[in-house]
Amino acid sequence: MDSSKLELLLSLLYILLFQPSLSAAQPNFNNYDCTSNNVSNYTTNSTYQRNLNSLLSSLASDTQIDYGFYNLSVGEFPDRVNAIALCRGDIAVDVCRSCVNNSTRKILQVCPNEMEAFGVYSLCMIRYSNRSIFGVVDEKPYVYMANGMSVLDATVFNQALQTLFARLRAKAASGNSLKKFASGNQSAGVETIYATVQCTPDLSEEQCSSCLLDVFRLIPNCCNGNVKGKIGAKLNYPSCNLRWEVVNFFNGTLEILPPPPQILSPSSQGRTWIVINPLTHFDFDVLI
Ligand SMILES: *[C@@H]1O[C@H](CO)[C@@H](O)[C@H](O)[C@H]1NC(C)=O
Ligand SMILES: *[C@@H]1O[C@H](CO)[C@@H](O)[C@H](O)[C@H]1NC(C)=O
Ligand SMILES: *[C@@H]1O[C@H](CO)[C@@H](O)[C@H](O)[C@H]1NC(C)=O
Ligand SMILES: *[C@@H]1O[C@H](CO)[C@@H](O)[C@H](O)[C@H]1NC(C)=O
Ligand SMILES: *[C@@H]1O[C@H](CO)[C@@H](O)[C@H](O)[C@H]1NC(C)=O
Ligand SMILES: *[C@@H]1O[C@H](CO)[C@@H](O)[C@H](O)[C@H]1NC(C)=O
Ligand SMILES: *[C@@H]1O[C@H](CO)[C@@H](O)[C@H](O)[C@H]1NC(C)=O
Ligand SMILES: *[C@@H]1O[C@H](CO)[C@@H](O)[C@H](O)[C@H]1NC(C)=O
Ligand SMILES: *[C@@H]1O[C@H](CO)[C@@H](O)[C@H](O)[C@H]1NC(C)=O
Repeated sequence: MDSSKLELLLSLLYILLFQPSLSAAQPNFNNYDCTSNNVSNYTTNSTYQRNLNSLLSSLASDTQIDYGFYNLSVGEFPDRVNAIALCRGDIAVDVCRSCVNNSTRKILQVCPNEMEAFGVYSLCMIRYSNRSIFGVVDEKPYVYMANGMSVLDATVFNQALQTLFARLRAKAASGNSLKKFASGNQSAGVETIYATVQCTPDLSEEQCSSCLLDVFRLIPNCCNGNVKGKIGAKLNYPSCNLRWEVVNFFNGTLEILPPPPQILSPSSQGRTWIVINPLTHFDFDVLI
């Protein structure tokens, strides 16, 4: 084998060995929406695009926020971009950061050149817009996912869902400005319902409560009938969301502990979420 062939072989080998790790693809969103508000597109290389890129990379690389809520803006009118990322309230901080990082990349792939966009994973969501979006209830668009299986007894199930939901809604709405999340379970005859509800915590208690009521009221009429009477579903507005299943899907009771001393740095003396007894305690209050 002559040396140029060897060189070729070695470089192919190099590509085979190292390329996959250089370009690990982000998982697909469960849902996204970037066209339903029908605003015009930004142009390539515009100030808006530069602001958006800089905002998304700040979100992806943030290591200060440890409560799962990101609200950032970059630039000045008319090129100002505002973004919110929100992790499900029960997940670990490293999982949250990884999810947010992935979402910042995915949103550019699925919504190229869109002035505003909304992408939803199971564990986090991201949205950005040139509009002001902080402290505002946004109920457009909504996205959903549903389990195709129907509940055994719709009357019993709906009653239990309503009871559970009313409880969780009050708990989540009364959370603080860093987290408005609640999870819990409720028996529905032979089935047990497990549910979570969450608002972006920039909303007031009243705003959160009203957003959650609106998202709950979607159930009977939305989604081509695919959500009503099903054993599991997720409904997401930009400002609030709910999910239920007949199996436990959330992390159990959370306790706040100081971070281990060896990784303590002056800039990161935050809280760490630790799960205790995830198999015995499902119902917990918002802790901060
Ligand atoms: C979306 O916007 C375009 C251009 O502004 C317009 O032509 C079109 O009719 C709009 N579509 C809808 C569904 O509103
Ligand atoms: C924005 O661009 C996308 C394709 O890149 C296109 O499908 C969409 O219709 C455009 N939106 C508007 C409002 O022009
Ligand atoms: C955007 O900027 C890059 C680098 O300056 C340039 O190569 C590219 O042609 C530009 N694209 C457009 C559509 O202007
Ligand atoms: C975000 O993910 C990419 C790969 O998907 C990785 O290269 C990068 O280091 C991550 N950034 C942070 C801050 O974790
Ligand atoms: C649930 O909590 C445990 C313990 O903190 C953590 O390791 C795990 O990643 C959490 N699950 C998710 C989905 O964040
Ligand atoms: C982010 O994407 C990477 C690469 O695909 C994947 O391994 C990781 O699980 C994703 N993070 C989350 C929280 O889904
Ligand atoms: C956002 O962008 C759209 C489309 O370019 C524009 O119609 C709207 O006025 C902008 N809103 C703000 C607050 O800049
Ligand atoms: C971002 O969120 C934090 C925590 O809720 C809040 O204190 C801060 O005022 C928010 N910033 C903006 C620009 O809304
Ligand atoms: C529901 O949660 C409570 C804690 O609030 C727990 O005691 C109970 O075992 C759970 N029920 C089921 C069926 O998991």
